[in-house]
Amino acid sequence: MDYLEINGGIPLRGEVSISGSKNAVLPILAAALLTDEECVIHRIPNLSDVKFMGKILESLGAEVQFYGESIHVRAKDIRPVGDYDIIRKMRGSICIMGPLIGRLHEARVSLPGGCVIGARPINLHLRGFEALGGEISLKEGYIIVKVPRLKGTNVFMGGRKGSTVLGTANIMMAAVLAEGDTVIEYAACEPEVKDLADFLIKMGADIHGAGSPTIYIKGVSKLHGAEHTVIPDRIEAATYAIAAAATQGEVTLANVIPEHLQSVLYELRQANVECLTGTNTIRVKRNPGPLRPVSIATQPYPGFPTDVQAQFMTLMTQVNGISIITERIFESRFMHVPELERMGAKIELEGINAIVEGGRQLQGAHVMSSDLRASAALVIAGLIAENRTIISRIYHLDRGYEKLEQKLRILGADIGRWNSDPDSPNYRAIPSSLVISEE
Ligand code: EPU
Repeated sequence: MDYLEINGGIPLRGEVSISGSKNAVLPILAAALLTDEECVIHRIPNLSDVKFMGKILESLGAEVQFYGESIHVRAKDIRPVGDYDIIRKMRGSICIMGPLIGRLHEARVSLPGGCVIGARPINLHLRGFEALGGEISLKEGYIIVKVPRLKGTNVFMGGRKGSTVLGTANIMMAAVLAEGDTVIEYAACEPEVKDLADFLIKMGADIHGAGSPTIYIKGVSKLHGAEHTVIPDRIEAATYAIAAAATQGEVTLANVIPEHLQSVLYELRQANVECLTGTNTIRVKRNPGPLRPVSIATQPYPGFPTDVQAQFMTLMTQVNGISIITERIFESRFMHVPELERMGAKIELEGINAIVEGGRQLQGAHVMSSDLRASAALVIAGLIAENRTIISRIYHLDRGYEKLEQKLRILGADIGRWNSDPDSPNYRAIPSSLVISEE
């Protein structure tokens, strides 16, 4: 299995170009199912999740071709049921339901299980489909939605934890081809929802208000092919910003939309990090003087993103004082905590709060990735730790960070990817002092 080896202690310096947004591109690719004409999407990040989505679209009958950073999708003849196992493996694949319902009035999708960060129910998606006229059943692990008459209506997307990003995307994609008007209330306001709406509008949809809590959709009878460039990945950008601050470096993030990062930049500034924004750039540098402890609570956009919680926690391990990190979106998104502790951090978990007693020098260790953003937190920890850090199970990182090692090496980091399997061309044994059981 691939692993990362990082020799920490080098401040990151230079410029890093931010890739297209993973969480924007997945529903946008699904939206290409809404038309039989070709759609062309640019600034596609080279990630395993994106390749997975390509396979899912193919399993539904679409033709999918990658050309460098662009992808062409033609969903001429599609069926409402895709490959059970591929769909089951990726949570994000749930967003094919909306377009299948919009175009074919039927979707059969393997029910996504929970994942390491929490239960991840889809009750709000289903409530929305029901409101649009859907009849829902469960058979042999498939969730089946049939909509004899897809009719616009008022859909309330609020749940116990607030709104739902992919739920809002799903209902929007079904409603664009419904008869009549739909109003989505308590819609997710994330920039990825707005980007999807922008693409749907290019396809001929009539949507107003995306990016706000109320979205108005007038159903149209048909959509056509369109071309679109996805927004930059605000979570990737935030990760590099935090890595720059943590390593006491100076990094310019290029190809970003600073407005999408307001809450993260606000908290970094509170922590005594300078963040200078340009039109499409952000320069991040530590101000003179020590970092200050900052307590954060994750919230739906425009609040502090849950997808940046783990990385911010790593930064707080470097601050003299106590910070409280509150996770309000996913119930078990603290899998990075025991790994950070293995590196010398002092963190106490109390329900949805992690109490970080910062100011300890982290020590290199062999740590395990558990999910995408927890892995990013461990990479940042490795960059600031003394000595060598080994990070295993990095397939999680490949889901969401394009060219991670290359980008970090350009910024000066000492980071390499090796494989622990002696038969691999990239074999390098994990030093015996760092070997740990993966059980
Ligand atoms: N929820 C429900 N019922 C539902 C749907 C969601 O109770 O029907 C709850 C969830 O359990 C959670 C909260 O609502 O507590 C928010 O979940 P949401 O539905 O918004 O998450 P998602 O749409 O499945 C997307 C991103 C996640 C990101 C969340 C929150 C994609 C592919 N995934 O997931 O990204 O954390 O929004 O912003 O867009 C990541 O990139 O690492 C990642 C996990």
